[in-house]
Amino acid sequence: MLIAQISDTHVKTPGRLAYRRVDTAGALAACVASLLERRPAPDLVLVTGDVADFGQAAEYEQARALLAPLPMPVHVLPGNHDRADAMRAAWPDQDWALDSGPLHSVRDQGPVRIVCLDSTVAGQSGGRLDAEALDWLDATLARAPDQPTIVALHHPPFLTGIAHMDAMGLEGREGFAAVVAKYPAIIRILAGHIHRPVQALVGGRLAMTAPSPAHQVALDLTPDGPSRFILEPPGYLLHHVLPDRTIVTHQVVIGDWGDAHPFFAEGALID
Ligand SMILES: [Fe+2]
Repeated sequence: MLIAQISDTHVKTPGRLAYRRVDTAGALAACVASLLERRPAPDLVLVTGDVADFGQAAEYEQARALLAPLPMPVHVLPGNHDRADAMRAAWPDQDWALDSGPLHSVRDQGPVRIVCLDSTVAGQSGGRLDAEALDWLDATLARAPDQPTIVALHHPPFLTGIAHMDAMGLEGREGFAAVVAKYPAIIRILAGHIHRPVQALVGGRLAMTAPSPAHQVALDLTPDGPSRFILEPPGYLLHHVLPDRTIVTHQVVIGDWGDAHPFFAEGALID
């Protein structure tokens, strides 16, 4: 089973560029084209937040239109650029776990259970998992403790060393790590927010962020590095759940890189 994770699409209303520079709609269209070409096709597309740039209903309408060509289900969770009410209204067909408040959700996909946590705080860039959210996570994981499980949330539950992103990181990381440490069936922790792929161990589980199909956050590990983005190659993650229920993650670079070339000709390595 294949799960494509796209993150931080930052869709704006038609004709508008993010930060007056980034064609996020064109970037998402290119991402969708890449997903449509992929063989085998992903079974699910998981969007780990910042679907819209300013959480406007018209931005969600545009995002849904851009995602519409995908034949597989698309599952979304909110990021700090999203607005809970507008997102709930834009995805009435998604099975949200709670009737109001945080946009948590659970999806059973083949052998895997995907538990999506809302880590957002209204009006704030940084995220937070309070006791209520951690209790919900713990209780949800406890319902199927032996099922292979992915936990997904927008804000990564680890520091990245990119100072301006860590400054708007996740409060409650220790509590989160303590909960996930209790469940060995967690095969991956997935996040976004950082607009570039970063990995770390959290509570003994591998946690990772996805690149953005649009703009990336510049890799700047200086302690006072400014908040800047860079138009490095866009991408997404492809999580492959193998028959033995282990998971392997590939990073896909979006774009036309030409045809694949052979290593061998007439049975010998090409010299
Ligand atoms: Fe973002």
